[in-house]
Amino acid sequence: MSPFIFLSLLLLLLQFSLPSLSTNFEGNALHALRTKLSDPNNVLHSWDPTLVNPCTWFHVTCDSNNHVIRLDLGNSNISGALGPELGQLHHLQYLELYNNDFRGKIPEELGNLKSLISMDLYGNKFEGKIPKSFGKLKSLTFLRLDNNKLTGSIPRELTHLTNLKIFDVSNNDLCGTIPIDGNFGSFPAERGGKMSPFIFLSLLLLLLQFSLPSLSTNFEGNALHALRTKLSDPNNVLHSWDPTLVNPCTWFHVTCDSNNHVIRLDLGNSNISGALGPELGQLHHLQYLELYNNDFRGKIPEELGNLKSLISMDLYGNKFEGKIPKSFGKLKSLTFLRLDNNKLTGSIPRELTHLTNLKIFDVSNNDLCGTIPIDGNFGSFPAESFENNRLNGPELKGLVPYDFGC
Ligand SMILES: *[C@@H]1O[C@H](CO)[C@@H](O)[C@H](O)[C@H]1NC(C)=O
Ligand SMILES: *[C@@H]1O[C@H](CO)[C@@H](O)[C@H](O)[C@H]1NC(C)=O
Repeated sequence: MSPFIFLSLLLLLLQFSLPSLSTNFEGNALHALRTKLSDPNNVLHSWDPTLVNPCTWFHVTCDSNNHVIRLDLGNSNISGALGPELGQLHHLQYLELYNNDFRGKIPEELGNLKSLISMDLYGNKFEGKIPKSFGKLKSLTFLRLDNNKLTGSIPRELTHLTNLKIFDVSNNDLCGTIPIDGNFGSFPAERGGKMSPFIFLSLLLLLLQFSLPSLSTNFEGNALHALRTKLSDPNNVLHSWDPTLVNPCTWFHVTCDSNNHVIRLDLGNSNISGALGPELGQLHHLQYLELYNNDFRGKIPEELGNLKSLISMDLYGNKFEGKIPKSFGKLKSLTFLRLDNNKLTGSIPRELTHLTNLKIFDVSNNDLCGTIPIDGNFGSFPAESFENNRLNGPELKGLVPYDFGC
């Protein structure tokens, strides 16, 4: 090779590799985390560091600028320690690591997550002190560190968090005094220490005051609560779903936008069983419906086609049966549709080929029949998305009926 060609190649390489070094910054941080963790259930399987960004990885959510805004690894049987790398996800809003086997100290660097709204580390084996650096998390609204092995005192810096609504450090080994400054005056005792009857009465009055107007405005909370009444929840994951609250925005596993509309339902890996009803179709602002790896049964309700804002529907790893609703053709924003590992029958509705935003589609390991369509984005989905069914394909238009073999 001539020195000139070599130099050109080098420049070309640099040109392509430099931007990616800078653009997949968040993917690299997440991948560095992955390498330290033990993941016996293969929950992090899709975390492929060669992709241009981590936005199609399972359990990672990006905003429209491809910045990571959520990490959802609750109930994932993961063990290991966190390192400083998570502190590099400057756009992260939700850090959901609850009910795993995380150990070691909570890194000081998590105090650099300036955009953080919710940090749920409860139900692990974290030890050492609550980092003082959490006093810098000015947007933090939910901080749940309960059921760990934390020691030391509650950092006084946390009293400066004016947005903090929910704070829970119960069932740890903390010592010292419960602060009363800032929002700490309003947290209930079961999340800190003992409660006087006077405070109890005040809280009750406060609750009543907020719950009365809720009868009319808590439309979405009522829909979710109607769902709850039909489900079996042996692990008490839905325990916090209190229908007397003014809205469901402080309930665990529910996320609201700034107008208090429900935009996420995160019930993956929750050991829930039962059937879905039409009520979920009333959550018109829902963007993420995450019900994967449970014991949901029965049909997928047609009414889910009314969730016009939906970006992601993950129903994989359940026992759903019957057909994939044709109404899903109305979900114009849908980008991720994972229905794999269920007992679905019938053919793939041709209406799904109209979903121009669909990037990830997986119906593998069901009992589907008929033809794999090739129109729209279906030309780009890999064969693995369809395997272990009774599907034929790709489609031979005019030669074989679409429902052949059904
Ligand atoms: C969690 O992982 C361990 C191996 O570390 C395995 O024995 C156990 O069955 C897993 N639990 C669940 C609920 O998947
Ligand atoms: C799931 O619930 C069943 C009861 O329905 C219980 O026996 C089992 O231990 C639970 N599994 C986990 C992993 O919590």
